[in-house]
Amino acid sequence: MPEYKLVISGGRELRGEANVSGGKNTSLAVIPATLLAEFPCQIENLPDIEDVRVLVRILKALGAKVDWHPEAKQMQIDPGSLTSNTVPFALSQKMRASYYLMGALLGRYGYARVGYPGGCDLGSRPIDQHLKGFRALGASIRDETGMIVMEGKLRGANINFDMVTVGGTINVMLAAVRAEGDTIMTNCAKEPHIVDTANFLNRIGGHIRGAGTDTIRIHGVSRLGGASYTVIPDQIETGTLMIAAAATRGDVTLHGCIPTHMEALTAKLLEMGVMVTSQDDIISVKLRQGHRAIRLSTQEYPGFPTDLQQPMSALLTRAVGTSEVIENIFESRFKHLDEMRKMGAKAVINGRVAHIEGVPELHAAPVYAPDLRGGAALVIAGLMAQGMTEIYNPENIARGYEHLESKLNHLGAKITRESCVNEVNGDAVRV
Ligand code: EPZ
Repeated sequence: MPEYKLVISGGRELRGEANVSGGKNTSLAVIPATLLAEFPCQIENLPDIEDVRVLVRILKALGAKVDWHPEAKQMQIDPGSLTSNTVPFALSQKMRASYYLMGALLGRYGYARVGYPGGCDLGSRPIDQHLKGFRALGASIRDETGMIVMEGKLRGANINFDMVTVGGTINVMLAAVRAEGDTIMTNCAKEPHIVDTANFLNRIGGHIRGAGTDTIRIHGVSRLGGASYTVIPDQIETGTLMIAAAATRGDVTLHGCIPTHMEALTAKLLEMGVMVTSQDDIISVKLRQGHRAIRLSTQEYPGFPTDLQQPMSALLTRAVGTSEVIENIFESRFKHLDEMRKMGAKAVINGRVAHIEGVPELHAAPVYAPDLRGGAALVIAGLMAQGMTEIYNPENIARGYEHLESKLNHLGAKITRESCVNEVNGDAVRV
């Protein structure tokens, strides 16, 4: 892992235009879904991020032929050469979305051996609902020292999720699409990338109806073909850039986004006094004066996304008044506030509720990116703060945002990467 830190010269307004990249979480679902196809698939608009690179390593470890052109945002995957149904623990641990290989391999082979997933530390992140769905479809499941082994000839079933789970909804859909018979899944998540994954599976011959609602009906098919498919833009990158524009009292226009995916965030920004306009695939965000504090409660889609709670809390550190932030999805998603306090933010955390009292200014400080979206939140805080903010452990940010620094610098930010190998090695500091 490169030992570097981000150095942000804060206090500069973001102005101008930027393009939104393809969706991280949709790509991490659609790429494994190609393993269910009999013929090669070409996926377009993929973001060049670390999690996609790890997924490429996993597919190659399984024997798939993968031709990845990051600059062209394009990947060809030929599952015809698959030689394995085992995902090594060392690779599965590197990301949360490795769990999608369970549904894909189980759906294709009736057998999968996958290491427990890794991912951001947001509290306990069990996969019991994924396994509940696989069992309902007829798979037997056993734990083999950190590896989950699933096998069985899958038959359609009725599955009701105990709680709304994005990963569980997609994973069971991957397993059911080629199962014999009909599957009805209820209490499903409705995120845009669930619809995107269902659209891809239908493009290669699947029969999936109702994705995007709480009930998904699947008529299993024995074979799936191949196709070209373009993934949707990244809802969370779009939101992060919208928030950064407001946080720097800038004026930014984003291209290549889907405004309807952003409605919950847009409503909150408007409530705060931020100007947000949209047309076709363009969203513009402008803020001239101060912004008001709000009450924010994260919900499953179409509610306010948990992944934007952290970036939004950076904006709230300078709102007029005290905001209340309720994190309903994950147990522990406020670590970034501990870091922002070092920059002068005023935040009190009580379990899943944080109260953020707006302050006139943030000041620069050395801070640590605790996870992907917390890291993005600290970048926004650094853009807002007076002085040079240093963000350590920025590799977390590169996992999920494509070229975030260069996009922000193109809009007027001043962010550089500096080596911190000497600091990490404890080399003597020249006085
Ligand atoms: C996906 O995580 C995303 N990750 C997350 O994005 C996102 O925050 C989350 O969905 C919610 O939108 C990917 O798509 C790779 P869940 P996932 O299953 O699938 C509990 C980012 O920053 N739960 O919807 O893990 C779980 O603990 C990442 O891009 C169970 O209890 O989310 C959580 O509290 C962070 N048992 C809640 O449900 C299960 O079997 C929602 O989890 C599954 C989930």
